[in-house]
Amino acid sequence: MQSKFKSHSDNVYAKRGHGSDMRTALLLVAAGRGSRIASTQDQTPKQYRLIGGRMILSRTLDALLGSPELDCILPVIHADDTDAYAQATAHLTDDSRVLSPVYGGKTRQESVRRGLEALREFSPELVLIHDGARPFVSHATISDTIKKLRGGARAVVACLPVTDTLKRGDDDDRILGTVDRKNLWAAQTPQGFDYAEILAAHNAARAAGMDNFTDDGALAEWRKIDVTRSAGDPENVKITTMADIRLANQRLHMENKPTLNDIRVGNGYDVHAFEAGGPIILGGVEIDHERKLKGHSDADVVLHALTDAILGALAAGDIGSHFPPSDAKWKGAASDQFLKHAVDLVKARDGVIAHLDATVVCEAPKIGPHRDAMRARIAEICALELGRVSVKATTSERLGFTGRKEGIAALATATIRLP
Ligand code: CTP
Ligand code: MG
Repeated sequence: MQSKFKSHSDNVYAKRGHGSDMRTALLLVAAGRGSRIASTQDQTPKQYRLIGGRMILSRTLDALLGSPELDCILPVIHADDTDAYAQATAHLTDDSRVLSPVYGGKTRQESVRRGLEALREFSPELVLIHDGARPFVSHATISDTIKKLRGGARAVVACLPVTDTLKRGDDDDRILGTVDRKNLWAAQTPQGFDYAEILAAHNAARAAGMDNFTDDGALAEWRKIDVTRSAGDPENVKITTMADIRLANQRLHMENKPTLNDIRVGNGYDVHAFEAGGPIILGGVEIDHERKLKGHSDADVVLHALTDAILGALAAGDIGSHFPPSDAKWKGAASDQFLKHAVDLVKARDGVIAHLDATVVCEAPKIGPHRDAMRARIAEICALELGRVSVKATTSERLGFTGRKEGIAALATATIRLP
């Protein structure tokens, strides 16, 4: 599907040469639609949503790539998601163990079956199956699952003991009894299998018209395959709802906290004059107006002030020194690339942006109706949560050049944290 990744005809195992070890593939299912997280405003499948500023699927892939026992990883994606997938994997190198993705089906079970079929040509001996929506999987869980398989288990499910008291109830909020939680386990992924056996089990389930298994362990049980437990991890949650996204963001933020003590604040200021024409671009958003802003680039004062604020916090010069107006390359340029560049400089120093705050000074156009769109666009460009981006506006009481409607000024403050 994508040239960047190994074609399915490459023999990855010959290159890696695991000696007597059993060849182990991991199937990463990520073709779901995330219906429980979708809202009318945002239909993005959960595996492509951001936590801590990065796509969930990128994080899951990185967590898996930390396990050298995995010889290759085959992602199963939805045909509508090829662009999002390319974004999620843009950071991977050509020689990573991630294979070209294959397309999934309507149910998780069918996505797994298609992935298993596609793995045939690699003839793995063992296969782990993992949810793309579980980015916090630990090396310990992967290792324990593989160890049990290599020790002779035919099917292994990462499990956690149930800690809550369990009640049985009916549809009318009535509690009918308490279930003894002894010997009850919550199943996670990865789940590991003898490859040929789980492929046969999936094809048998399909032939029998059974298409409702929610995990592969259940399908193995149905085929009377002995299933063993491996050590799950309370942190290995499956992102399912918006509450999970919020918790994940909080958790990643806390993880970053102790090591990012070098707090920097930078300011930025920019002015552009009006000229004939329209519309105006402010904060990356097009706003209808009878005049437009004059400038070498798209004259987005808000993005320019923000870019300068971040560069200021890094003590890394100003927008003009990174993108000289004398360079014809930047004529009419969209300013999001200037801001992205500044954000990349923060990332290159392993830093994070804690907060961005911009103030627009003008008599017209009215900023209020566009404020949220501007915040959302800035958050998107900088890969930040909306709550970390502020846009404010004021007039200058008809005083000065902004008061005379000769142009627009913007001020910005960036707070960043560096290690
Ligand atoms: N999955 C898949 N193909 C499907 C359905 C699910 O590959 N047809 C994947 C999901 O992408 C996810 C994992 O299986 O990584 C677990 O499924 P689930 O948590 O149910 O994800 P979704 O189906 O996307 O979410 P929802 O059930 O809320 O729609
Ligand atoms: Mg689902």
